[in-house]
Amino acid sequence: MTPTQLAAAIPKAELHIHIEGSLEPELIFALAQRNGLSLPYASVEVLRAAYAFTDLQSFLDIYYAGASVLLHEADFHDMAWAYFLRAKADNVVHTEIFFDPQTHTARGVPMAAVINGLSSACDRARAELGISASLILCFLRHLSEEDAFATLEAALPHRPRFIGVGLDSSEVGHPPSKFSRVFARCRELDLRLVAHAGEEGPPAYIWEALNDLKTERIDHGVRSLEDPALVAELARTRMPLTVCPLSNLKLCVVRDLKDHPMKRLLDAGLCATVNSDDPAYFGGYMNANFVQTVEALRLSRDDVITLARNSFEASFVSDERRAELMAKLDQAIVS
Ligand code: HPA
Ligand code: ZN
Repeated sequence: MTPTQLAAAIPKAELHIHIEGSLEPELIFALAQRNGLSLPYASVEVLRAAYAFTDLQSFLDIYYAGASVLLHEADFHDMAWAYFLRAKADNVVHTEIFFDPQTHTARGVPMAAVINGLSSACDRARAELGISASLILCFLRHLSEEDAFATLEAALPHRPRFIGVGLDSSEVGHPPSKFSRVFARCRELDLRLVAHAGEEGPPAYIWEALNDLKTERIDHGVRSLEDPALVAELARTRMPLTVCPLSNLKLCVVRDLKDHPMKRLLDAGLCATVNSDDPAYFGGYMNANFVQTVEALRLSRDDVITLARNSFEASFVSDERRAELMAKLDQAIVS
């Protein structure tokens, strides 16, 4: 098997997927029709043609518009189920899924509809597809600390249905430290902590995520390479980076996939992982990200296996489940 074939075939975990970013144009139109909403795009093709992004904000504007068709519990369930079928096809065996409740509650959608719809899809994925899945609630960093606290409060009745919190949306100008007190409260609640940092923002934002928020993973983190002391710290602590190569390409974080820092991150000994971020918008799910990265950077068989192992190492699963996932990988490599 070539490294590319191996990358597609082996079991893997996805740890950086915004479920609203898995909403394909076809499903956006179907949900708009089901909910009696009209869209400012004439067709699926016209909508897809608008997916030409210059930076993170140009994407977020369209991403939030797409998510506006989600109104009812069944909409959230159907969106997540469509993602799970794609994940299964790519041999994803475990996934930790971001969701953005503020995008929905601000439109009057009840928190219960969001969380119950997603959570029932996770249960179904476990039962019908053998994929283990958990939810991570993301705070929108362009909104206030007060809004984040109110969102946490509204979500707490559903505490058993999500395992952690994250921080996403417009990065530059909204440093992690803006949410230090919210994350401190989440830590007291035994929630797992992650944050987007170092996608467009500087290495200083990654330091803040680590030191002020006390995150257990960094989402993206590709700009860490600009700060050798930070790279040394990330390597020393085996701090996972959930890297999203096609996202970085589509949002112009890198000019070409051949310039992507993934190989340099691995060679520096960091616990880097491959993820799809917003697969409906960035041109591919897990295996598209794996395959195109392996080819552009000429990654070796060992690199591919390291990436899959890293995805399990970085997962928020029990020791027992982690051992099971690692064993599945070992089995796939020898067979
Ligand atoms: N970065 C920040 N916020 C996001 C992203 C991302 O890549 N995707 C969805 N929300
Ligand atoms: Zn993201």
